[in-house]
Amino acid sequence: MVGGVQVYPVKSLLDVIRFVNTGNGIQPLKVDSDALLTESQRFVADFKDVRGQHTAKRALEVACAGGHNILMIGPPGSGKTMLAKRMPTILPPFTFEEALETTKIHSVAGVLDAGAGLVGVRPFRSPHHSISDAGLIGGGAVPRPGEVSLAHNGVLFLDEMPEFPRNVLEVMRQPLEDGTVCIARAAMSLTFPARFMLAGGMNPCPCGSFNDRSRECHCSPLIIQRYMSKMSGPLLDRIDIHIDVPAVNDKELRSGSEPESSAKIRDRVICAREVQLTRFSSCKREKFYCNAQMGPRHIRSFCELSSDCERLLERAMAQQGLTARAHDRIFKVARTIADLETAAAIVPKHIAEAIQYRTLDRTFWA
Ligand SMILES: Nc1ncnc2c1ncn2[C@@H]1O[C@H](COP(=O)(O)OP(=O)(O)O)[C@@H](O)[C@H]1O
Ligand SMILES: [Mg+2]
Ligand SMILES: [Zn+2]
Repeated sequence: MVGGVQVYPVKSLLDVIRFVNTGNGIQPLKVDSDALLTESQRFVADFKDVRGQHTAKRALEVACAGGHNILMIGPPGSGKTMLAKRMPTILPPFTFEEALETTKIHSVAGVLDAGAGLVGVRPFRSPHHSISDAGLIGGGAVPRPGEVSLAHNGVLFLDEMPEFPRNVLEVMRQPLEDGTVCIARAAMSLTFPARFMLAGGMNPCPCGSFNDRSRECHCSPLIIQRYMSKMSGPLLDRIDIHIDVPAVNDKELRSGSEPESSAKIRDRVICAREVQLTRFSSCKREKFYCNAQMGPRHIRSFCELSSDCERLLERAMAQQGLTARAHDRIFKVARTIADLETAAAIVPKHIAEAIQYRTLDRTFWA
């Protein structure tokens, strides 16, 4: 994979001696990196396996289009893991540089599949909540990359997010902010890449049945509140989209119509990403690629709202008791929804959809 080097494949040291003495007999190995990448870009999972769940699929499309972190709230078995696993199938395909970066990390961590030269698809990592902070962030006597780095250029899925110890969740803040993780040791400090999309899953309450039409929840408001408060505020601040994922009913599961394929959804995501790249190409000093990376200043210059939009947003904030933190995230997500339609201006329906993606600000546990 390394450019500018000729590689002569040999079977034994005798081959080497013969080659050095005569200079012939072995042809340099040619690697067609584009072909290799195309060949290794294969998915087993596809969004067409998921029946119903139109709202959740749409939210995931928006998340992937703008690089927004997403949290899915729903009872056990509603399909949160199934949905999250399919996110890499609708993200833009790896560029060669991205594939190399991710391959390097998997290689030094010793998790590269035997026989695989290149990691060809965006990684999906889903560590269990019993993971240590060293396992998540990286560390050890000889520092090894953790899950945040193994998920570099891909998706990190934290299922049952409130079950993760608070200190483990807190250490996620640096990589979420900077796209890198720094591991400090007495002798040295190491920086690993860690730019990933965060997807979270959680039950609506400890028993899982809160807000469920078919099952009764026995958790007291206090218990539910305590459960929710385990999600740290600063971490929630970095999640632009949260949605309810109710279980689909039997009828939907059996319905005959074939759901849309990942490839179709991915085409729209790629389109929306191109719009963003063009928009941000004018930002010379800061490099950024997607709407989720916009800070408050960029939001003001790139997401101009009409007075109709302003009014709608103000009314929703007041009526639904949305917190101030929701405000900027609604802007960013609305920008992505508009980009999916290649619409230049954000209009009220974009804002209205973005408001739907703030479940945790709306419900009584906020
Ligand atoms: N919408 C759906 N379409 C098809 N199968 C589904 C759907 N929702 C759930 N399932 C089935 O139920 C299983 C459990 O879903 P899972 O993603 O593990 O739920 P959760 O993570 O929310 O607990 C899946 O592996 C899948 O077989
Ligand atoms: Mg699950
Ligand atoms: Zn409950």
